[in-house]
Amino acid sequence: LKDENEDLSEETKSLISSLPSDIDCSGTKLFKYQGCWYDKDILQAILNFNKNFQPQETDIIVASFPKSGTTWLKALTFALVQRSKHPSEDHHPLLSHNPHELVPYLELDLYLKSSKPDLTKVPSSSPRLFSTHMSFHALKVPLKESPCKIVYVCRNVKDVLVSLWCFENSIIGVDGSGDINQKESNLLEALFESFCSGVGLCGPLWKNVLSYWRGSLEDPKHVLFMRYEELKAEPRVQIKRLAEFLECPFTKEEEDNGGVDKILELCSLRNLSGLEINKTGKLSEGVSFKSFFRKGEVGDWKSYMTPEMEKKIDMIVEEKLQGSGLKL
Ligand code: A3P
Repeated sequence: LKDENEDLSEETKSLISSLPSDIDCSGTKLFKYQGCWYDKDILQAILNFNKNFQPQETDIIVASFPKSGTTWLKALTFALVQRSKHPSEDHHPLLSHNPHELVPYLELDLYLKSSKPDLTKVPSSSPRLFSTHMSFHALKVPLKESPCKIVYVCRNVKDVLVSLWCFENSIIGVDGSGDINQKESNLLEALFESFCSGVGLCGPLWKNVLSYWRGSLEDPKHVLFMRYEELKAEPRVQIKRLAEFLECPFTKEEEDNGGVDKILELCSLRNLSGLEINKTGKLSEGVSFKSFFRKGEVGDWKSYMTPEMEKKIDMIVEEKLQGSGLKL
C-alpha cells in the first residue's frame, strides 16, 4: 500500500501534522497554512519555493485568486514586457502558446514538479515572468528585499465563483450551455458552500485578496493591485498603468502608432480563444486550454445565482473586508 505522504519531505510531513485540516467540496484534504488552504503537494511546492527560489531584481510575478483574470493578465504582462523582442505580429509567442505556458506557476508548475527547477529554461528571461495563486504572505518570504514586481488581479467574488463552476463543468465534460442539469446545479451548490466557508484550494478568496491589497498599500512600488472590471471598462488606461508600474511605459511614438491597441487586440479574449493552440492544446495535466476562455463578462453571475446566494455571499464578503478599505 502506497503511503499517501511518501512523496513529501520530512519537513512538509511535520508541518502538515501540525496544521488544521479539512476536506473541500471535491473530497480533497486541505491544510490551512498562513490563513489559506492548500493540498499537501502544493504545500510541498510552497516550501520548495520558499527554500530554493533565488529572486532576480527584474523578476515579475503575476498573482491572483483562481478565475479572476489570470490568463488575461499573463498575456498582457508577457506582451508588454517582451514587446521589443517580438515586434512582428505574425510570429508572436502568444499566437502559438497558451499564456499559462509562457508564464508558469511557481507552486502549481515549477516547484511542484521539482524542488529545484531549472529556471534558466523558463520561457521569458530578463525579465523572468512567473505566476502564483499563493497568498502574499507565502510568496514574499524568499523575495526578501528584492525589488521584483508583483501584479495582482482581483475580480468580483460572484463572477469568480460562477467562472470556477463553469471551469469545473468544462473539465468534467459539461458544456455549460443550455439548461442546468442536476449534476451542474449540485456542483454550484457545493462550490457556493465551500466558497462561503472559505475551505477551498488557495481560499478563502478574501484572505488571498486582502494579503495583496495590504501589500499594495504598504509597498505600492512593488505590488500593483488591478481589477478585472477596470481592465474590461478601460483597458487602455489600465494597460498603461501596468506598463508604468513595470517600468516599461509606452513612448509617445508607440501610442501614436497604435502600439497600445495592438497589445490589447493580441490579448483579447476573442483573439486568444480563436487561436488553434487554444482551441486544441492542453496543459500537461490534461486540462484543455479552451477551458480558460469563456465569456469574460462582468456580472455573468446574475444568470446563475439565486437572490439568497447573492445576499449570503455579499454579507460574508462585506464582513470579511470590513475596515480594509477594499470593496469587491
Ligand atoms: P468567465 O468564466 O467569467 O468567462 P483565469 O484566467 O483566472 O482562470 O480566469 C478565467 C476567466 O477570465 C474566465 O471568465 C475567462 O473567460 C476570462 N478570460 C480569459 N481570457 C481572457 C481575456 N483575454 N480577456 C478577458 N477575459 C478573459
